[in-house]
Amino acid sequence: MLDESSWFSDSYSVVWIFVPVLLLMLWVQPHKRLSSQEVIVSSSQEIGAFERKKDFVTRAGGDYGYRDDNDSGGGGRHIDHWRSTEFPGLIPPLGTASHDEAEVYLDYAGSALPSVTQLSHILKDGTQILANPHSAGPAASRTTRLVNQATKLVLDHFNCHADPDYGPYLLKDSKSIPHGLASNLQKKEPHPGYEVIFTSGSTESLRLVAELFPWYGDNQEPSILLYPQQVHTSVVGMRACAQSCGAVFQCEPLDTICNASVDTFSRWTKQQAALFDEETITGTPTSSRCDANQSNSEETVVNHLLALPLECNFSGDRPDVSSAMAAARSASSPNHQWHFLLDIAKAASTGPVNLKALDPDFACISFYKLFGFPTGLGALFVKRNKVDLLKSSRNKPRYFGGGSVDVVLPGKDLMVARSEPSLLASLKNGTIHFRGIASLIHGFRELDRVGGMEKVSCTAGGSYFVPSRLAYYL
Ligand SMILES: Cc1ncc(COP(=O)(O)O)c(C=O)c1O
Repeated sequence: MLDESSWFSDSYSVVWIFVPVLLLMLWVQPHKRLSSQEVIVSSSQEIGAFERKKDFVTRAGGDYGYRDDNDSGGGGRHIDHWRSTEFPGLIPPLGTASHDEAEVYLDYAGSALPSVTQLSHILKDGTQILANPHSAGPAASRTTRLVNQATKLVLDHFNCHADPDYGPYLLKDSKSIPHGLASNLQKKEPHPGYEVIFTSGSTESLRLVAELFPWYGDNQEPSILLYPQQVHTSVVGMRACAQSCGAVFQCEPLDTICNASVDTFSRWTKQQAALFDEETITGTPTSSRCDANQSNSEETVVNHLLALPLECNFSGDRPDVSSAMAAARSASSPNHQWHFLLDIAKAASTGPVNLKALDPDFACISFYKLFGFPTGLGALFVKRNKVDLLKSSRNKPRYFGGGSVDVVLPGKDLMVARSEPSLLASLKNGTIHFRGIASLIHGFRELDRVGGMEKVSCTAGGSYFVPSRLAYYL
């Protein structure tokens, strides 16, 4: 199982700006100690460096280096114009004087860097009076407004909104479907969109799914948590929750899962049932499992979870997850249902992610990977028609407190879970990270300023050309 700790693997997925910086590093390094007044390279070295850079930029493609002046929309400029001012800690572009503390930063898979503009806007907003959103009054309303604005930006960014023809018209009464939508409905099922809750990051989002998923296990039919070898440790850790409920885990090579057919998924389901041995695998007596509250026939469905990364944090590979997901869903039956969790933590930092098009049931992100600030803030996306799955009566009773309850009586066993503003509100205890959430607005503005995720992906794609050069020069 792989973690983000490998600097070499992370170099595959540099997002922002390091590639030209890297080229500069390769020959500027011996001259780094010179003062800004001195000429930093001899002309022949300089020509060589410029040629190497030109060669690199040509190979990385015309869109490398973010938005240029000529782009429609204007406002943005090529990175060479703003790297020194927006990221003063980094070695500046070729031909510009460096300073003693300038560094090369390669760990963009670990975390992006926030820009000076982004941080100064956040600081300016930070002086506003923002009250706890659970309070009443103008300062609390201001907080709620900012949180709503940030939430909308998150939903827009990942294309999470329900299709306009989903909901009240949903095939209940075809006569009430507005003109023009009827033909759409026949073409494809409208998408329900996603609910989002803010978490401390991808890991907390994964933990929530692991703790809330209605795992099941008896001697015949255990739930399966299926994940590839090339997955983040935070996904692997989900198995502890699954096992504690009598489920089993299965780890396969990424290619094996991505190329699995409907038959393969059906076979895996049967194999796990046959192999399942309550004592050797979990040691958990059936009575202590999470199916203790099982009450009706609907609850006899055995739910399985397939967890895949949209981009591998080790190799930078972007597997084709859609066929595995389609095969798993087709292998589902009334008694066995496959659900799908997509870890987009890494992919979200290197290119656009369209959740509705990918259609996972759950997804997780960490915002510092997109724009460096704030750390300790992420989100869990849950497809709206899967929210009930996480609130299944099959689950163990959960802790509640703070923001997750509407009514609670201290002296009696009475608690009414919160249902507003999101269907997931009852899953989030305590006060949300409201200043951090408000600061996301400036992070998304920063992504716009550089030309959006398409431009980011062109520059991140340029890092493909880095490893061989890095290996050569080291
Ligand atoms: C693919 C992937 N998933 C999950 C995580 C965990 O993210 P966090 O540490 O922000 O919770 C990371 C972090 O590097 C990651 O790259």
